[in-house]
Parts: sequence; C-alpha cells; structure tokens
Amino acid sequence: MAEEVEIRGGVAVITGAASGIGTGLARKAIALGMKLVIADVRADQLDAFAATLDGEVLALPTDVRDLKAVEALAEAAWNRFGQVDILFNNAGVMATGFSWEIEPERWQRSMSVNVDGVLNGIRAFVPRLLEAGRPARIVNTASVGGFLPAPLMAPYSVSKAAVVALTESLHFEMQMIGAPIRVSLLAPGPVKSGIFDDPFGPHVDPAARGFVETMRGMLTANGLSPDEFAQRVFEGLAAGNYWLFPQPEAIDPLFERRAASIRDRATPQLLNFSEL
Ligand SMILES: NC(=O)c1ccc[n+]([C@@H]2O[C@H](COP(=O)([O-])OP(=O)(O)OC[C@H]3O[C@@H](n4cnc5c(N)ncnc54)[C@H](O)[C@@H]3O)[C@@H](O)[C@H]2O)c1
Repeated sequence: MAEEVEIRGGVAVITGAASGIGTGLARKAIALGMKLVIADVRADQLDAFAATLDGEVLALPTDVRDLKAVEALAEAAWNRFGQVDILFNNAGVMATGFSWEIEPERWQRSMSVNVDGVLNGIRAFVPRLLEAGRPARIVNTASVGGFLPAPLMAPYSVSKAAVVALTESLHFEMQMIGAPIRVSLLAPGPVKSGIFDDPFGPHVDPAARGFVETMRGMLTANGLSPDEFAQRVFEGLAAGNYWLFPQPEAIDPLFERRAASIRDRATPQLLNFSEL
C-alpha cells in the first residue's frame, strides 16, 4: 500500500479549474494548506478565478487536448514548486443530441478533451512522479455517466466510460511496478457547474433541447455545490479510496439496477434523471 500523500504544504494540480468542480477542488486544496497549479483553456476566466484565491497559486492557460501544453504545465509545476502531490485530471465537456446527428467535430472534441485530456495528464505527469519517487495521487474525473450510459449524450457516456477503463488500467500498472502513486476514479453525480452551458452544436434537436432543460433543472434542484462536493472528494482521498463516488445516495440504487440488468440479462431500462 502506498504511503499517504502530503496535503498541508503539498502541491495540487487541477485541470479545468476555471469553473464548477475545479473551483471547489481549488478552494478546498487552498483551505487545507496546499499550493496550487491551476489550468484551463479559458485563460481570462482562469486568471480571474486565481485572483480570488488566497494562497500560493500558479495559473497556466492550458488546453488538455495538447500534449505539449500539458507537458509544459508539468514542467512549470516542478519548476515553481519542486514537487506534485495530487493531480486532478478534471477538465471535461458535454455534447448532446442524437448520436448520428452530433457533428463529427463535437464527437471528436468530447473524445479529445475527456479522454485524450486525461491521457495527456498521465503521459506528462507519471514519468515525473515516478522519477520523484514520492507518494502521489492521480484523480481522474469520469462521471456516473461512465457507468450508466444515457441517451442524447453518447459522446459523454462513451468518453467517460473510457476514463473509467483507463483509470483502472493505470491503477493496476502502478501496482505492477510498485510505484508509490495511488490512483482514484472520481465519478460525480449532479454538481452545480457550467457543464450544460454549451452543449449544443449548430443543429439543435428539440429532444436534445428538452433533455438539456431537464438536466439543467436537475442540477439546480439536486446538484451539490462545488465546495460541498470538494469536501467529500477530499474525505474520500483521506480515506485512501480508489472509487470516489461522493454522492452514493443518488447513485447506488441506479448501479444496483444496472448490475441486476446485466446479471439477469434484462434489457437496460432508460435512466430516469429525476432520480439522480
Ligand atoms: N457537474 C456535474 O454534474 C458533473 C457530473 C459528472 C461529471 N462531471 C465532470 O466533472 C468535470 C468538471 O466539470 P464541471 O461540471 O465543473 O463543468 P464546468 O464546465 O463548470 O467546468 C469544466 C472546465 O473545464 C474546462 N475545459 C474545457 N475544455 C478544456 C480543455 N480542452 N483544456 C482545459 N480545460 C478545459 C472549461 O473551460 C471549464 O472551466 C468534468 O470532467 C465533467 O465531465 C461533472
């Protein structure tokens, strides 16, 4: 079992940190006495957010789709702070519509940000973390959608299922080589954020519009605040958990239903999002 990571005085790197969950993780990390490297593709929003944080913060505009940019992020983190203790591969995007109507560019964007973005984080940080030889933590953000595929957001379900698989592979690889790096899979349920702010392409299907309205309503009604969510994430990290499901009350019944459907060879039933 790997030793626990350094929290107070340690360094957290957070991608997609200019909005939503990333901001909650950043505030919580600062409150715990961590130093921060925050990254986002939206440079202005990132700078504005960094200015609200009271602590040692390096804010670096970074597109996680670009491996060179993520390597530059890792380089900058070590140059500035000399260590990295927790990496949150958090950046992610939503795309809605019927699978066959979503434009190829938006399908590709979902795969590039949600999957390649996480992989680029792994590629850029793991060799440096191995070289450092200190306990560290990598937290990859999937979604309950990575376990419970849904209609009208196939690029999201597909890409998040890939993150579930990639993260578990990485976990086993770290074990195989005896690395002091622990891996965690973070699967948020509803959290108030900007994830549904820009889910459409040029063609907006009425079904997708209705779906997005439902999802926005569900996030407003049932979503945790990013700060409450981050509190639960850090509790899970402190407990050394691989699976980080900060909202078990909303998710577990749906997991059970899905497991039973597979076990009983029963045709999957449509997920009712109002149950989340
Ligand atoms: N909010 C939820 O209910 C929910 C549920 C399940 C999973 N998630 C996941 O949580 C993570 C955080 O999302 P959120 O809900 O806070 O959404 P959000 O839209 O508020 O924040 C996502 C951030 O990622 C950034 N980003 C997008 N593309 C990027 C890129 N190429 N490079 C760098 N940054 C990029 C955005 O600019 C934004 O600041 C995502 O991976 C999302 O899929 C969220």
